[in-house]
Amino acid sequence: MKVVSFFSGLGGLDKGFLNAGYDIIWANDFDKFAVATYKANFGDHIVLGDINEIPLAQIPDCDVLIGGFPCQPFSMMGEQKGFEDARGTLFFRVAKILEDKIKRGKKPAAVILENVRSLKTHDKGRTYQEIHRILTEVLGYKVFCEILNSADYGVPQTRNRTYIVGFASQEAEFSFPEKVPLTCTLQDKLEAEPGEKYFLSERILPTILSDGTGGYKARSEIDLTVARPLCATMAKMHRACQDNYVTQKGRVRRLTPRECARLQGFPDSFIIPVSDCQAYKQFGNAVTVNVAEALARSVRDTLTDLGAWRDA
Ligand SMILES: C[S@@+](CC[C@H](N)C(=O)[O-])C[C@H]1O[C@@H](n2cnc3c(N)ncnc32)[C@H](O)[C@@H]1O
Repeated sequence: MKVVSFFSGLGGLDKGFLNAGYDIIWANDFDKFAVATYKANFGDHIVLGDINEIPLAQIPDCDVLIGGFPCQPFSMMGEQKGFEDARGTLFFRVAKILEDKIKRGKKPAAVILENVRSLKTHDKGRTYQEIHRILTEVLGYKVFCEILNSADYGVPQTRNRTYIVGFASQEAEFSFPEKVPLTCTLQDKLEAEPGEKYFLSERILPTILSDGTGGYKARSEIDLTVARPLCATMAKMHRACQDNYVTQKGRVRRLTPRECARLQGFPDSFIIPVSDCQAYKQFGNAVTVNVAEALARSVRDTLTDLGAWRDA
């Protein structure tokens, strides 16, 4: 199945779909560092640029469209009730691209979108209501939506994200992937020799460990066996109650980019060609590969049942 990927970042969602047997023919992101990581690992089919500025005609037709679009409120556009409500948002751009394909008789068989956990409650529920309405009533997809936690798909990271799956066929029956028991811990993902720069100095340690209620409670916030959600601002020093710190050889340190990669389900063969700062941002933004792959397999099952699955 030919896949077009939007907001691809370093390719977490894409890697899951590749692992499940899909063919990514075109991808896009406007962050040159994310594009550098993507290219180093997946090839030159990613286009650098703002999706709002890429002409519709340059976006290839595909069987499946995937993307983790940034969440923006629609209500700021006013009280209008139409397709207009979403105009100016990145979701609208995705909808516009789908609309163009539908008009030309090239409707993708499935659409998979990822977003933050709070999407359904964002802007008092209006954001999701509008997304759902556009996908179903305007674009004619049968839509399924669920919050999945990465820790339920084999990685020791609590990461809840909203996944929206739409099928062109109204006959589609779909189940989100089954959870699997977690058999590893954050400690299993640590590098043996992480490098001195990741260890915290004695000077910064009290600030990092403090949570305003005393040292013992703060210490209990480090060395979690299941990591807190990796975030895009990991390059900054957060307090121990917000970020992931571990003790190794009696000293406290932050996670390395490679450990973040592992916690997001990337194999150690995954090339990290950018600075630590960019790598933290990219892994913090990524869709966990295990979740993406499980989801891609479930979508594949539904497409197979519908007789719509095509190899390559
Ligand atoms: C949450 S990240 C997506 C992560 C990715 N799906 C993955 O699995 O690794 C969102 C991405 O959207 C990109 N982005 C935001 N606005 C964009 C735009 N207008 N055009 C293209 N890319 C954009 C950001 O650079 C960022 O990499």
